[in-house]
Amino acid sequence: MTKIEKIVLSYSGGLDTSIILKWLQETYGCEVVTFTADLGQGEELEPARTKAEMSGVKDIRIVDLREEFVSDFVFPMLRANALYEGQYLLGSSIARPLIAKHLVGIAREVGAHAVAHGATGKGNDQVRFELAVNALDPSIKIIAPWRQWNIRSRMQLLEYAEKHHIPVPSDKRGEAPFSIDANLLHTSTEGKILENPAEVVPDHVYQRTVDPVDAPDTPEIITIGFERGDPVSVNGKSMTPAALLTELNGLGGRHGIGRLDLVENRFIGMKSRGIYETPGGTILLAAHRGIESITLDRAAAHLKDEIMPRYAELIYNGFWFAPEREMLQALIDQSQTFVSGEVMVRLYKGSASVISRTSPLSLYSADLVTFEESAIAYDHHDAEGFIRLNGLRLRSWAARNSR
Ligand code: ARG
Repeated sequence: MTKIEKIVLSYSGGLDTSIILKWLQETYGCEVVTFTADLGQGEELEPARTKAEMSGVKDIRIVDLREEFVSDFVFPMLRANALYEGQYLLGSSIARPLIAKHLVGIAREVGAHAVAHGATGKGNDQVRFELAVNALDPSIKIIAPWRQWNIRSRMQLLEYAEKHHIPVPSDKRGEAPFSIDANLLHTSTEGKILENPAEVVPDHVYQRTVDPVDAPDTPEIITIGFERGDPVSVNGKSMTPAALLTELNGLGGRHGIGRLDLVENRFIGMKSRGIYETPGGTILLAAHRGIESITLDRAAAHLKDEIMPRYAELIYNGFWFAPEREMLQALIDQSQTFVSGEVMVRLYKGSASVISRTSPLSLYSADLVTFEESAIAYDHHDAEGFIRLNGLRLRSWAARNSR
């Protein structure tokens, strides 16, 4: 085994990665560079710097990745209307390749031959980090302490923390925290009582959305502007991608939008139960489908919907930097050329409903569809022949069945 001289650790400053930092320093006896990504997780990042400093880290990287996250990862994914298993907006899945990309970038910059992450040995995130690192730089070694050390449970983790004087955080109620992953797209909560899918989730688990029951009694109507498939404005005000998603998170959170209690199938083979809150993303999905409904051709829209589950599964399984994801992305991006216009969405007690859509590039023809007398050349006799030919095989089939 070649000696590892320097490691770049993906470091949140939370309990797990604080312990990992200590463990890496002790186990490898080498310099550890910490990398903390600001993905809009909504918590102070300066404490991460202080904690890293106190652990003797010389090179501390805290990087604001919010705009890159939304413009280069979240928005491309939203163009596909991506949902895993019909419901999950992939908030954690889409953040991992971005973190991996920067881990690799920093490793190259500082001449480190290894990167480390704090994902456990049972989840999807280890797969996502490592497949991304493999795809970006096959020469980089990956250290996954959760699979290497002999800590096997959260209890043992707490004991290790105590032994090494690492402060153990507790939630508002003084209990050990849930496993939480948050960024500008979502908050995901797993573990503890949630591990029993029969257990009804107590309201204090939710972090960024109100219970729809407590949401305002008056609906709020907002307008979202799209250009080439991406949202660019809210209520006529142009915004950067991260600012726009932040704005919609605020609006959606107040109206109790985007809560999801889900049992999903992990790539690694087990089922798990999680609570997701994706307020802005849920509004954007509805609005994007709204603008596509008038700007996409039928066959184009249906083709997109056919490949969507495949595309979503690639992201869920960690294949963002794989050729087949890039091929599908090219197809999706091409489909968005004319997806521009404005959508009105009504936010009310947990729902985001499209109530109006307009586009200078609309394919919608009121003249063609109207129940009234229409000027456009549409011959009703064409429909008669159309149905007769489509019915031909059904008539043969029915005749045979009644023989
Ligand atoms: N199960 C989700 C996924 O695989 C979230 C994983 C991270 N969340 C967490 N609370 N640790 O994408």
